[in-house]
Amino acid sequence: MISAALPPPRLQLRCSECAAAQSEAGPAVFCGACGGLLAFELEPSAQFDAALYRRVLSQRRSSNAVADRSGVWRFRELLPPIATNDVVSLREGDAPLYEAHRGADYAGAQRVRYLHLGMNPTASFKDFGMTVAVSHARARGARVAVCASTGNTSASMAAYAARAGMTAVVLVPDRGISEAKLAQTLDYGARVVAIGGDFDAALEIVRSLDPRRFAIVNSVNPLRIEGQKTTALVLAESSDWRVPDWVILPGGNLGNSSALGKGFREAQALGLIDRIPRIAVVQAAGAAPFVRAFETGEELVPLHAETSATAIKIGAPASWRKSLAEVRASDGIVIAVSDAEIADARAIIGADGIGCEPASAASLAGLRVLLERKIVAPNDDVVLLLTGHMLKDTAYAASYHASRAQFANAIAHVADADEARKHLDRLFESAR
Ligand code: F0G
Repeated sequence: MISAALPPPRLQLRCSECAAAQSEAGPAVFCGACGGLLAFELEPSAQFDAALYRRVLSQRRSSNAVADRSGVWRFRELLPPIATNDVVSLREGDAPLYEAHRGADYAGAQRVRYLHLGMNPTASFKDFGMTVAVSHARARGARVAVCASTGNTSASMAAYAARAGMTAVVLVPDRGISEAKLAQTLDYGARVVAIGGDFDAALEIVRSLDPRRFAIVNSVNPLRIEGQKTTALVLAESSDWRVPDWVILPGGNLGNSSALGKGFREAQALGLIDRIPRIAVVQAAGAAPFVRAFETGEELVPLHAETSATAIKIGAPASWRKSLAEVRASDGIVIAVSDAEIADARAIIGADGIGCEPASAASLAGLRVLLERKIVAPNDDVVLLLTGHMLKDTAYAASYHASRAQFANAIAHVADADEARKHLDRLFESAR
């Protein structure tokens, strides 16, 4: 009944740079003609009924079928087709939208919400894309999935590959990645190869692999982008299809900002939303090659990245062209914030009872800067994407709270029961 009423849009795979049509998704990840990144282009069908589709989606949310409850597969008509049996899902994608009380005060804005993508099966936004990439890889018989990672992609790939019965191999920098992410990756059974180099070096190795042997599931894989574009749909759906003025997110390899923009553009083309929010991509100041490319309009110049927000310690972002096109299409902006600004913003998000990992807090730090610069107005409706869970990097949080930082929450050490009771009395007196 539903499928008859909803002729799905067609998705054509093309090179995002030379526009050459490609025959199928995977094993190839790069264009056969020019080596550029591939992308699915959605061609809406004239009969697509947006009002009906919204009703279908709302019915699916109350179903118990995995493909209905997943905040990715619920939108399956908008994704590259796959048989339901081939879907590898952990019920990803249902990211909650929370009011950001302290975050709003801190930034000086009135209407701020967090879309918490860290509330996913492996605790980061990567699950949105990984479920699609791994499902398709398994469906075409791939045995080994591979990625380069700063920690979250690896944990996500490891989990989905384990569910799919595939071998997972990850290349990570041998220094600077969060222990929690590494432990998670090992726990899900991935084979971890630590290289004496950074993420950019690891991705270079992955790019050189034969895609017929290894299923490459970094965000250079257009199937990852298709999954992650549903973030935009989840956000629109949970706001009753009214989009905010701004969506702000951290940028590293720039797959996620590409996916988000694509999701909003397609939702508008399909009549699901009436406008596109402005997208602000925030980089860490020590890893901000995209800011320069955005400001000058010139080619991105790769650099050696340094930041304590290790998830986004990336100097040669693979998807910068795609991301730039989406940021421009949304009338958006790209900015950088310092590691200290990220650290304080992260503590504020924690104090909101929400929490996130360092890279995610670039969003709130960025909002503060955009308000100062009067690019965002105080009464603009803003959604900050929190890309990873607080528990992804507890070492970072512990060291912040043990420091003299502005929002550090120090542990009180007391000698005995008497002192403990006195301390509790003082806390009671000072409680609001
Ligand atoms: N936030 C978090 C928590 C991340 O892990 C990443 C990327 C980003 C933001 C940036 O997203 O690369 O799409 O611009 N992490 C990758 C990884 C690189 O390997 O886990 P992007």
